[in-house]
Amino acid sequence: MKATTDEVSKKEVIGTSQTRPLDTLMARLKSGEAKIGVVGLGYVGLPLAVEMANSGYSVTGIDINPMHVSKINSKTSPIADISDETLAQVLDKQEFAAISEISAIADHDASIVCVPTPLTKTKTPDFVGLT
Ligand SMILES: NC(=O)c1ccc[n+]([C@@H]2O[C@H](COP(=O)([O-])OP(=O)(O)OC[C@H]3O[C@@H](n4cnc5c(N)ncnc54)[C@H](O)[C@@H]3O)[C@@H](O)[C@H]2O)c1
Repeated sequence: MKATTDEVSKKEVIGTSQTRPLDTLMARLKSGEAKIGVVGLGYVGLPLAVEMANSGYSVTGIDINPMHVSKINSKTSPIADISDETLAQVLDKQEFAAISEISAIADHDASIVCVPTPLTKTKTPDFVGLT
């Protein structure tokens, strides 16, 4: 069957070498098999991690602060938006766990970074780390 114009232009933009990993990721996300990492378990990261775990994904939360990790794993939520009960449910079902080791991202299909935005001396966002 002939490829549609949309399919052809998509391949031209993405490039053949990148199409396969993206297809694999999309398939693993759709099937729920994808392992997700959330880096930074604060006001943004923790609710996101819990929501993804509740949606059936295996989620690992990674935070640089070991005390924060320990608190989360002992089912005490550090933020008001997530109750201790909600946190306990995803921990008990082993759909979510928190750790401090960033090396864990090597096992993940996708990682979502939710750490504080670094600022320059003039208090504007510093994107140097992304270049
Ligand atoms: N909170 C909001 O309403 C909001 C809204 C829009 C955008 N944001 C953006 O979302 C991002 C996260 O904000 P937040 O409010 O969740 O921050 P937060 O301070 O509540 O949480 C950040 C977490 O990241 C951890 N952390 C810091 N450096 C780390 C590292 N190198 N590796 C792993 N963990 C690390 C911290 O220990 C902390 O637990 C920021 O960039 C912020 O600008 C936040």
